[in-house]
Amino acid sequence: MTYERSWATLPRMCGIVGYVGKRPALSIVLDGLRRLEYRGYDSAGVAVIDRDEVLTEKRAGKLANLEKALADRVDDGIAVGSTAIGHTRWATHGGPTDRNAHPHASGDGRIAVIHNGIIENFSRLRAEIEATGVEFTSDTDTECAAHLLAAEMRALRESGSPEGPQTLAEGMRRAVSRLEGAFTLLAVDVQTPDAVVAARRNSPLVVGRGAGENFLASDVSAFIEHTREAIELGQDQVVLITPGGIEITDFAGAPAAGKEFHIDWDASAAEKGGYDYFMLKEIAEQPQAIADTLLGRLSERGDIVLDEVRLTDQDLRDVDKVFIVACGTAYHAGMVAKYAIEHWTRIPCEVELASEFRYRDPVLDRSTLVVAVSQSGETMDTLMALRHAKQQKARVLAICNTNGSTIPRESDAVLYTHGGPEIAVASTKAFLTQLVACYLIGLHLAQVRGVMYADEVAAVVSRLRRTPDALRELLGKMEDVRALARDLKSSSTVLFIGRHVGYPVALEGALKLKELAYMHAEGFAAGELKHGPIALIDKGTPVVCVVPSPAGRGVMRDKVVSNIQEVRARGARTIVIAEQGDDGVVAYADHLIEVPRTPTLLAPLMTTVPLQILACEIAAARGHDVDQPRNLAKSVTVE
Ligand code: G6P
Repeated sequence: MTYERSWATLPRMCGIVGYVGKRPALSIVLDGLRRLEYRGYDSAGVAVIDRDEVLTEKRAGKLANLEKALADRVDDGIAVGSTAIGHTRWATHGGPTDRNAHPHASGDGRIAVIHNGIIENFSRLRAEIEATGVEFTSDTDTECAAHLLAAEMRALRESGSPEGPQTLAEGMRRAVSRLEGAFTLLAVDVQTPDAVVAARRNSPLVVGRGAGENFLASDVSAFIEHTREAIELGQDQVVLITPGGIEITDFAGAPAAGKEFHIDWDASAAEKGGYDYFMLKEIAEQPQAIADTLLGRLSERGDIVLDEVRLTDQDLRDVDKVFIVACGTAYHAGMVAKYAIEHWTRIPCEVELASEFRYRDPVLDRSTLVVAVSQSGETMDTLMALRHAKQQKARVLAICNTNGSTIPRESDAVLYTHGGPEIAVASTKAFLTQLVACYLIGLHLAQVRGVMYADEVAAVVSRLRRTPDALRELLGKMEDVRALARDLKSSSTVLFIGRHVGYPVALEGALKLKELAYMHAEGFAAGELKHGPIALIDKGTPVVCVVPSPAGRGVMRDKVVSNIQEVRARGARTIVIAEQGDDGVVAYADHLIEVPRTPTLLAPLMTTVPLQILACEIAAARGHDVDQPRNLAKSVTVE
């Protein structure tokens, strides 16, 4: 398995299923949702067409809540209709409630839509739709799509288009031409009972080809029980499925083709997108997770957009000190953030382990901003640090991957990382998206306080937007790292060194190795080596060295190169992570891992990734359970 495989079908936020055929659709769609539940599980819903009705049921919480609600409806048409769509949600716009769960209906209830992705221009669209007298019944961006599709269908009928699947497909093409951002949309229309239409831009969608029935899903695991013949949709395509047909066009209506393939994985591998472990899948998802976290972050005026803000700009201008509190990998993201926040805002910034924070009586007041970073939003140490900060009247801003969890709920402002569910205990894509979120917070503060111009902010955001491509390139070249991992699997210790933002990367590399491979590993600030750790170096000790970009502060890079020479002179086996084109390091590297060029402060988005893969592969080579390492939990809700 390589890391660059099939980006188009890699899952992220939300699971989507569609069915049209002769069998009762509900149970097929529910089975599919069960298989997709790993993708998001904060709410779920279905819409089934039975005769002249769209029957919908949706519930917050796990799929079991939806199934319980459906159990009471066995006698109505929802259990027998043979066209249906279903959704399991990972909330982005709008908290995880019943009303925000998908499907979303048009005002007349004749159309139902489900969506995966983020519609970037939704607030503009919503204002425009509301101005026509439509009332929204949810806080989601998705509902815009339902109203837009209904309006297009009305317009098509009024202009004499015949009822039928072709008109539904045309309505979808017209509706999606209004949308910006990322979306897979599936829709059913009661006027066209034997069809499901879907559109895809930047979010995954596959078609399952059956006999007298067809399927749609965000990944093949949803329909693998029924068919192994699949078609991966291309970018900007619309697909119409009926019991006997699959028709694909581009957004302009010209015939198009998807990529046909035969699924040769079993069902459990399919859930992991064909990867051996969720961790590998999540590593591979990182480019998309970064792109998603960046979606919609620059307003038309060029301001950085947070998700929920219960603070005024004046509150942020009054900030005279920033504390970042977090645990584990999130703490390392905070350490990187310190460099960026201080550099861009000139506000002093401290990073503290959440478990230590409140016990040392930190000096906090109204003008302190505490940034709580947490993937789960439920880590008790971080939550307690946040509550302590609030008691002291500090302002609290959360960076979180889980919409509606406790930490963002109790914070004054929130920036969600749109990384999608992270299943593997060891954090990977959450870390990179936390970095992106931290950069955005730094830029937001700098902008509000007037120390950076909008165009300077936009320049950094545009550099960030280029990182997913660079990361894809890097992920495509990880074979040497895998070979190295097999080679290092019996080492008794591995040391990691770095300077500046490379220092937290070194700590993160060591943490990954400890938690996954159960090996002794330590990360050090490269400059500290000579004050003690260098005594650990013995003949053959592997030392991973994270080299800063020579294009940043040359002197910093040169110092790390000297540190590499120092450890080498004492017998270390050096594994050097350096920027492409930094030829000066080649002579000191027993193994060289090149990463694409990236601005100094953003470099951890690249340099961390080989270390994730190294740890994952060493753990696998040692025969460990990569996704669920011993003694650890994904979310630690005790202090
Ligand atoms: C646990 C996990 C780590 C994670 C840390 C913080 O220890 O095993 O992977 O970094 O908690 O979790 P959070 O959800 O707050 O980011």
